[in-house]
Amino acid sequence: MYEKIQETANWLRAKMPSRPTTAIVLGTGLGRLAEEIAITMAIDYKDIPNFPVSTVEGHTGRLIFGTLGDRDIMAMQGRFHYYEGYSMKEVTFPVRVMYELGIKTLFVSNAAGGMNPSFKIGDLMIITDHINFFPEHPLHGPNFPTGPRFPDMHEPYDHELIRLADAIAEEKGIQVQHGVYVGTQGPTFETPAEYRMYRIIGGDAVGMSTVPEVIVARHCGIRVFGVSIITDLGVEGKIEEVSHEEVQKAANAVQPLMADIMREMLLRV
Ligand code: HPA
Repeated sequence: MYEKIQETANWLRAKMPSRPTTAIVLGTGLGRLAEEIAITMAIDYKDIPNFPVSTVEGHTGRLIFGTLGDRDIMAMQGRFHYYEGYSMKEVTFPVRVMYELGIKTLFVSNAAGGMNPSFKIGDLMIITDHINFFPEHPLHGPNFPTGPRFPDMHEPYDHELIRLADAIAEEKGIQVQHGVYVGTQGPTFETPAEYRMYRIIGGDAVGMSTVPEVIVARHCGIRVFGVSIITDLGVEGKIEEVSHEEVQKAANAVQPLMADIMREMLLRV
């Protein structure tokens, strides 16, 4: 595995038009944030040696290099989900490659169902913590030399970046929520009883991604900022039928606000 990571990193390093230290993972419905990026190079995942290939509708599947808010960045347009059948090693492979390429800060975004009764559809939730509910741990197996066998997780989401996002949101008059993201395997959305359970154990929102990438990023010492777009509600009395299309529609609607915050954050980190 380590050789493959090195091989991919070397291949990309030889092509990269810049040396970004910040990477962004654009999740469901947020792929359009890529339009905000002044792209200097984009490579389809299928053309990158050892990269898994994205299959889900709405996930373009390419690695982008360019500038956002005048900062060099690298962005994943589309990510690999566990529910697609990838192993955890595959899901987190790009993050390991990012680390090898010199990434120090990772921005992650996703769409999520909100369990917190004060949330509404279209809210932006800054992720303050997470609960790993995946059936397989991304660090299962022999330890990678990038971090300790038993990695600390007392601050998975960087407090300084959260403060910065809060300050920017306030300046711009954008209302943001804060909360705990529960990462689940999917692909089913939750039953009402499951939403209730995730609320009881301390979750504010639930989704099918992000947690594996964040764990691996932290194991590599990469600091992380995460944001969820609340696309549907898992709140008793407000639970309605939900489809992938609706999730994407709701995510698309708030994307400009998220882009606004992210662009400004990149200028200030
Ligand atoms: N549950 C799980 N994943 C999701 C949801 C949800 O309600 N909404 C968007 N992604």
